Amino acid sequence: MVLARTKNSQPETNNQRMKKHFETEAIRNQTERTQFSEHSTPLYLTSSFIFEDAEEMRASFAEEKERNLYSRFTNPNTTEFVNKIVAMEGAQAGYAFATGMSAIFSTFAALLNAGDHVVSCRSVFGSTHSMFTKFLPKWNINTSYFKVDEVDLVEGLITENTKILYIETPTNPAVDILDLELLGKIAKKHNLIYIVDNCFATPYVQQPIKFGADLVIHSATKLIDGQGRVLGGVTVGSKELMREIYLFARNTGPAMSPFNAWVLSKSLETLAIRVEKHSKNAKKVAKFLEANENVELVKYPFLKSHPQYKVAKKQMKLGGNVVAFEIKGGIEAGIKFLDNIKMCSLSANLGDTRTIVTHPSSTTHGRLSEEDRLEVGITNGLVRISVGLENINDIIADIEQALES
Ligand SMILES: Cc1ncc(COP(=O)(O)O)c(C=O)c1O
Repeated sequence: MVLARTKNSQPETNNQRMKKHFETEAIRNQTERTQFSEHSTPLYLTSSFIFEDAEEMRASFAEEKERNLYSRFTNPNTTEFVNKIVAMEGAQAGYAFATGMSAIFSTFAALLNAGDHVVSCRSVFGSTHSMFTKFLPKWNINTSYFKVDEVDLVEGLITENTKILYIETPTNPAVDILDLELLGKIAKKHNLIYIVDNCFATPYVQQPIKFGADLVIHSATKLIDGQGRVLGGVTVGSKELMREIYLFARNTGPAMSPFNAWVLSKSLETLAIRVEKHSKNAKKVAKFLEANENVELVKYPFLKSHPQYKVAKKQMKLGGNVVAFEIKGGIEAGIKFLDNIKMCSLSANLGDTRTIVTHPSSTTHGRLSEEDRLEVGITNGLVRISVGLENINDIIADIEQALES
């Protein structure tokens, strides 16, 4: 049954579209409608696509025709999700991965050759650190680290084999901030590929490409999903670099599932409004903690006391949803605080509607030595709060009673 289409039944195609505001891109950047004139994009749960004849199949595989062939390469749901992130980040192209880590690993594996060298900030997500120290060295790819407060040492770490400059900002879990623009200038001067993990900020808060990044990576598992349901990752950036990453991914298979892409594309429709509220709640939590006598230090990008407050203000639109604080009394106090929490969740994830509390020294980073933890800003009493969307009074009441108990 083919249904008649009304004049305005199709969303604008990419070629017709004028650049729109962030929220509009998130909602209106949509896959072409089917003959059923559905309003909301359906789920294309199909592993492959069919061809009219041998010639169409040949031309499609030869890339003379742009169309879906097989969902490891592209699928309407993953394409819609990627198109939105590309528009939000001001990129040219992108590819969606099964997880944030598969986006990070595939990006490095696609771009590096044996013997290449990476310069990275030491404060990176734990599995990214494992990739640098345990896995890339198998192919003779080594990484030199600088600490968050050692940006002046970066140029000294660059060798003739250095190909990539990599950072995360804000960092996980200590919420440190790196100067995107300054590092972008260094990368440009030395002809390095500048890659930024923008997971904590989201494209609503910060767009690293504006500051010189060549590629931006997200774990979509966090605020992009925002409701703790699915895993996902995405890399976006220039057409040339994304072509190499696409060819690597198309052949090695780390693709995002159409179902997850469908969920994540719907989530993007509310990203702006969610991040606004997350950031508002997080700032209130940060201010409450700053005034509490059981708390030694609070780290939140938009608190004036944050060591990189000025840089945060320059490159971020909001402070984001993560607050880190130092509880008086070290490891024991951190564990006790977690045990006293009643409403908030004890979980390793972040960026959920539900407020999540973690104590890195006794959990996620418990196997590191104290010295290694301190290198990345994880003091014994550091607590990370991923502030959710519950009523702020309930969030603060739970934190307050846990601090006081
Ligand atoms: C900053 C950052 N990058 C990457 C990842 C990895 O993402 P995923 O768990 O989706 O593989 C995480 C996960 O917590 C993260 O926090």
